[in-house]
Amino acid sequence: MTEKTFYITTPIYYVNDKPHIGHAYTCIAADVLARYHRLKGENVFFLTGSDENSQKNIVAAEKAGYTDMDQYLGIQAAIWQQAWDGLNISNNDFIRTTEERHKKGVYKFFDLVNEKGDIYKGVYKGFYCNGCEAFVTQSDLMEGNLCPIHKKPVETIEEENYFFAASKYRNAVLDHIEKNPDFIQPASRRNEVVNYIKDHFVDVSISRHFKTAKCGIPLPIDTEQAIYVWFDALINYLTGLGYGSEGEDFETFWPANIQLVGKDIIKFHCALWPAMLMAAGLPLPKKIFAHGFFTINGDKISKSLGNAIDPVELSMTYGVDAIRYFLLREIRFGEDGDFSFERLKERYESDLAKGIGNFASRVLTLAAKVPAKDLEDTDALDDEDAQAMIETAWSTYNTALDNCGLEEALRVVWECISWGDKYIEQHKPWELVKEDPSHFANTMVLLVEVLRHISVMIYPFMPETAEKLWRQLDIEALERAQEGQKLIEWQPGTVSRPSKGDSLFPPLIS
Ligand code: MSP
Repeated sequence: MTEKTFYITTPIYYVNDKPHIGHAYTCIAADVLARYHRLKGENVFFLTGSDENSQKNIVAAEKAGYTDMDQYLGIQAAIWQQAWDGLNISNNDFIRTTEERHKKGVYKFFDLVNEKGDIYKGVYKGFYCNGCEAFVTQSDLMEGNLCPIHKKPVETIEEENYFFAASKYRNAVLDHIEKNPDFIQPASRRNEVVNYIKDHFVDVSISRHFKTAKCGIPLPIDTEQAIYVWFDALINYLTGLGYGSEGEDFETFWPANIQLVGKDIIKFHCALWPAMLMAAGLPLPKKIFAHGFFTINGDKISKSLGNAIDPVELSMTYGVDAIRYFLLREIRFGEDGDFSFERLKERYESDLAKGIGNFASRVLTLAAKVPAKDLEDTDALDDEDAQAMIETAWSTYNTALDNCGLEEALRVVWECISWGDKYIEQHKPWELVKEDPSHFANTMVLLVEVLRHISVMIYPFMPETAEKLWRQLDIEALERAQEGQKLIEWQPGTVSRPSKGDSLFPPLIS
C-alpha cells in the first residue's frame, strides 16, 4: 500500500518588514494541520517561504539604506525563518523566490504555458495598485481611484506587456469549482469567487517592463520584461517541491491537499492559479482554504497605525503555546475576529492556567500518591462513561481537524478537561486515598489516562505543552511523536508512574 501523503502550504510573505501576528496566524494554523497529519502517520510536506521579487521589498531596502538587494533579502528572509522557528512552526522547507531552484521551475512552467499558445503580447493600460502589486479593474476601485484594500490612489500604467490567456480557462475553472465543493473552503467564500470569475476574469498581464519593474525574474522570451510577481510567486507551491529541479518530492506531493491563504488573496488562488495550472497541464490543489482576517482592538493591522504586534515578542511574555492556543481558539477558523490583550489574558487565566494547567497538576499530584503495587492491577479506562467520552472526543476531534475546524477541535479538548474536573469532584480522590486505596488507585489511573489522551490531542496546537505532559506522565510518546508514529491510534495501556513537574501555565506577572 502506498503511504498517504499530505501537502500543505501557506502564502509566501513579502519580507519588506518583520512578520506580524496576522502572518503568524496562517503559519500556526498550517502547522497545526501539518502536525495533526503527521500524528496520523501520514507523510507530510509543509511549505512556507518568502515572496522576494516584489517592488515592496525594493522600496523597503532603499528606505533602510541598503544598496545590495541580495544582502537585504538574505537578512529579511532569515528574520522570517527565525520567527517561524521561534513559534515552533514545523515547515519542511522555506522557499525564497530569488533562489535558483525557483527560477528554474518558473521557466519550466512558463515554457509549458507558452508552448500551449497561452502567452501573447499586448498593450496594457490600466490601474495598478502598488500595495497589492496587482492591476485592478475600474469596478474594484473605491471613491474614484482608491484601492479597496489599501485605500490609496492607484497608478495609471500603459505599457507593452505579455498576457496570459486566463479567460480561455474561465469556464473550466467555474466547472471545477461547481463539481468540487471542497475546492474552495469555507463554502461561504465560494460565491465571492464564482461572481468574480463570472464578472471580472479576463486575460492578465503577466510581465512588466524592467524600466518600471526594477526587479523580478526575466521573461525567457523577452528579457527586457520581468515576470509579474503573482505569476512568479504562485509557482512557489511547485518549486518548493523541486518542480523544475532534481528530486521526487513534486511527484510525491503534488497536488497539494490544502493551500491555506488569507481572504485577501483568495482571487489569485482560486481563479488565476487554477487557470495557470490548467494551462500548464498540472492537477489543481484539492482544497484552498481562505481564513478570515483579524483586527487588533477593533483596528486593521497597519503600519500607519503602528499596531502590528510582533508574535515572537508576544510569545516571550505569554509562552509560544499560549499564543498558538489563543489565536486558534478565539477566532472560529475561516471567520474574521479581533485580537485584544484583555481577551488573551482572560483566556490564559481561565483556559490555560485554571483549565488544563490546573487539571494536569491535580491529576499528577494525586496520582503520585498511588502506591506502585496498586498501579499494576488496575485497568485503565475500566469505566464505560470514560470510554464513551474519550471515543466521542476523538471522533469529533478528528472530524473537526479533517475539515479545518481548528477551533472546534480545541473545544473538544476543553470538554474532556471539564469532564475530568467533574470526575475529580464526584469521586473526591483526596478522601479515597485514606478510605479506599483500591478505589483511589482506579480513579487515578483513569484520570491519568484521560490526561494522556488530552496530551495527544493538544500536541498539534501546543507541542511544547504536550511534550512537558509526556515527560510528566513518564511515557515515551515524545520519542514516538518525533518519529512521526501514529499516536492518534494510541490504545489505553499500562500506566507509568507520573511525576509532577513545573506548572504548565504559571500565573501571569501583570
Ligand atoms: N506575497 C503575497 C502572497 C503570495 S502567495 C503566492 C502576500 N504576502 S503578504 O505578506 O501580504 O501576506 C498576506 C497573508 O498574510 C494573508 O493572506 C494572510 O495569510 C496573512 N495575514 C496578513 N494580515 C493578516 C491579518 N490581519 N489577519 C489574518 N491573516 C493575515 O500577500
